[in-house]
Amino acid sequence: MKFFEKNMENFTTHLKNVGYVFQGSEIYGGLSSTWDYGDLGARTIKKIKDIWFSHFADGDLNIFAMDSSVLLSNDVWRASGHINSFEDVLVECKNCHKRFKIEHISKKTVANTKNIDAKWLIENTVECNNCKKKKWTLPKKFNLMFKVKYSKNNNDVDDIYLRPETAQGIFINFLNIVNSTSTKLPFGVAQIGKSFRNEVTTSNFIFRTKEFEQMEIEWFCEEKDAERYFLILLDKMKSFFEMVGIKEESLTVYKQTESELAHYSTKTYDILFNYAFGSLELAGLADRGTYDLEVHSKASKSQLGMKNEKNEWFFPRVIEPSFGVGRTLLSVLWDNFHIETLEDKTQRIVLKLPPSIAPYVASVLPLSKKLGSNAKEEVMKVLKFLPIYYEETGSIGKRYRRQDAKGIPFCITYDFDSVSDQAVTVRNRDTMKQERIKISDLRSYIADKMHNYDI
Ligand code: GAP
Repeated sequence: MKFFEKNMENFTTHLKNVGYVFQGSEIYGGLSSTWDYGDLGARTIKKIKDIWFSHFADGDLNIFAMDSSVLLSNDVWRASGHINSFEDVLVECKNCHKRFKIEHISKKTVANTKNIDAKWLIENTVECNNCKKKKWTLPKKFNLMFKVKYSKNNNDVDDIYLRPETAQGIFINFLNIVNSTSTKLPFGVAQIGKSFRNEVTTSNFIFRTKEFEQMEIEWFCEEKDAERYFLILLDKMKSFFEMVGIKEESLTVYKQTESELAHYSTKTYDILFNYAFGSLELAGLADRGTYDLEVHSKASKSQLGMKNEKNEWFFPRVIEPSFGVGRTLLSVLWDNFHIETLEDKTQRIVLKLPPSIAPYVASVLPLSKKLGSNAKEEVMKVLKFLPIYYEETGSIGKRYRRQDAKGIPFCITYDFDSVSDQAVTVRNRDTMKQERIKISDLRSYIADKMHNYDI
């Protein structure tokens, strides 16, 4: 038997083999930094988004839903500052020609990345991360906005942009949201959707891609409450990560320095995850102040504010928890990817995902193909509308291993005794222990495990 270890190569190969993540456009040689999610990936992503939405929007905070367009007027991006300021500063190594974001090569040595030039990098003996030489080009700015052609009619085509963040769709609808809900402060708006950035440096599997999905909340509150809500939302972000199976010890909270802040932010905390390739941003919590409502009020000549007790207009403060769906999936899968050596010295790959996030909660496995129709009739029927996988080919041992590798928490084996005793064997993925359960009790047993499960 070939022995495996936990590393990125084995991890990504495994995720492809079992159907979580495939390279985009693979049969044509691949399109760099694009990825497709197979059955298991798409199902897990759906669960991550559902848990995120109910954790934030169906909980104790006053949060509404939103689904705004990917295509917005150029005026939005002009006013928000993205056309002028949403950029990466890149340098190229003259020896190996690899490009780096300036903050990625200099983070350890530089406090203020805004004043760096090639001379500085050489004088301060900053090495190339790739070839260790110290030969740099001058830093160059690249706007990250993704341009597309938008035709008004056949002869009239404009360049417009795909959104680089979902947030702006919320700010420009501020009045629609307040008027249609009659809400008072504080309130929030939650949105999940695709964003696009023409990232020049992409790498590390699904960590940084040009097309990605975000889960963002814009929380509007009074100035006096901003600090309190910043901390409440930080706690809620941490408890969300715990719910989806990310270990507390894999996370670190990092306060951005002034030079690292985005153009709209006065304070940002990054939640870093301990990826195999470094401790990097999984999600961010920003205090956007009154920046966005102010700039859009000015540019659109609409009053994007609220009235106080004295009937005077004011701009609410905005606190923004922002998550990447892909990075959350990557963190969940990496933290729960285990390679175990068993007593008989064989190895098993097991994804110990919590049942609430696993793509399927259980697999139904008839011991013999001959029992297939019974298993479908009697067991699948009882578990209707739960995410249940069905597999009847291969030895039962091999099928157990396949379910472990996919991260399916329970295997339900229908055997020859099941026909008469109307009971099945349920095997726990993590402990590999088995118990006999009546088919009539199976639905409540599985439903209970989905919500109460000690990892
Ligand atoms: N609205 C604020 C905002 O967009 P951000 O820190 O640029 O802030 C928020 O992005 C989150 O979106 C990040 O923490 C990350 O999870 C995800 N994200 C950003 N760029 C990404 C990319 N190129 N690929 C994958 N995820 C990305």
